[in-house]
Amino acid sequence: MSKGKKQDSNRWGTATRAIHSASGPEVYGPGMGAPIGTPIWQSSTFAFREPGEVADAATATRPETFYTRYGNPNFTAVQEAIALLEGGEAALVTASGMAAIMLVFLGLLKNGDHVIAQTCHYVGTMKALEAWLPRYGIDVTLVEQTDLGAFEAAIRPETRLIFLETPVNPTLAVTDLAGVAALARQRGITTCMDNTFATPINQRPIEHGIDLVVHSATKYLGGHSDVTAGIIVGDRERIETLWFGLIIHGGISHPFESWLLARGIQTLPFRVARHNSNAMTVAQFLESHGAVERVYYPGLATHPQHELAKKQMDGFGGMVVFELAGGFEAARNFAARMQLARRAVSLGGTETLAVHAASMIHARLTPEQRAEAGISENLIRVSVGLEDAEDIIADFDQALAG
Ligand SMILES: Cc1ncc(COP(=O)(O)O)c(C=O)c1O
Repeated sequence: MSKGKKQDSNRWGTATRAIHSASGPEVYGPGMGAPIGTPIWQSSTFAFREPGEVADAATATRPETFYTRYGNPNFTAVQEAIALLEGGEAALVTASGMAAIMLVFLGLLKNGDHVIAQTCHYVGTMKALEAWLPRYGIDVTLVEQTDLGAFEAAIRPETRLIFLETPVNPTLAVTDLAGVAALARQRGITTCMDNTFATPINQRPIEHGIDLVVHSATKYLGGHSDVTAGIIVGDRERIETLWFGLIIHGGISHPFESWLLARGIQTLPFRVARHNSNAMTVAQFLESHGAVERVYYPGLATHPQHELAKKQMDGFGGMVVFELAGGFEAARNFAARMQLARRAVSLGGTETLAVHAASMIHARLTPEQRAEAGISENLIRVSVGLEDAEDIIADFDQALAG
């Protein structure tokens, strides 16, 4: 397999990286052209000409062809593309974002270790931190993400991992990446950052000193609401350790999922540029609307960490969160009246999606139980899509008028 064209990849710009690094191995035979569209290597196992070649593949670290749980050319294509975009040495594709996050936790931590994370995270991550890690004897301290001093104060001799997410799902609060990375590096603590909302186009945590980056690739990286996958990016040594964990843990991606993901990544810079500009337009519209009490978007000057966001992000992403002045009823009515935007969880696809968490996700809880869980009654989370911004605004305008 020839990979010659990728030799200069570290000098490429972002668009070239996205387009050319996700294309998979170039396979030329005598008189045969190589496919431009990456083939799907839909095979669970691979045959070799000599017994010794099987033995070599069986004992290799991260063989590309041996047995698909160990590796597959479609996994390699995705891994190389995302490592290059994030500026990491290596990457690992997994079955989902949660598979990636749990692999980091279970692959790097052991009984007696301590983890520091934020008081706000994606709900699945929160459950893993609060309910699962303690079952394995791993202690977790949650700190307010906007308070750098709180991270420092929580560090103990047995702290092994600091886990971050910025901008965070769902409040879009921002964590100081370089600040936390510096605290951790001095003490030999590994840092891992969930970069799902920003994508490597808007934010590259490794450039700020973070060790590992995870993604729900289900979102912007795939970009078309048709893939479930996860990614871990970092230095070769940690990624190899996690690969040994993955082949035991078993939460691998699959050739077709990885093929879809590699295809999505080719257009990532172009899609994210449009998500950024559409989200800013929608955020500004919402901020100027009388029925809206508050808008959370890191690109707005009114966002409490706007200056920090400007320092560590190249763009502010496609997620906009807002609270309606009329409380629960107003927010539920808004969600019911939307015509263009779809009522669905998830994010990062071509289409605008919106959720009113209190009536759509946590409807079976009482208002008191929701308050205890920190779920705001009037909060709408929008994944701003790639449609014409004026059409999204027209839809929101008529939904707010109700
Ligand atoms: C920020 C973030 N991280 C991780 C996940 C989990 O990803 P997946 O659903 O691919 O397991 C999600 C899912 O919504 C998310 O929003």
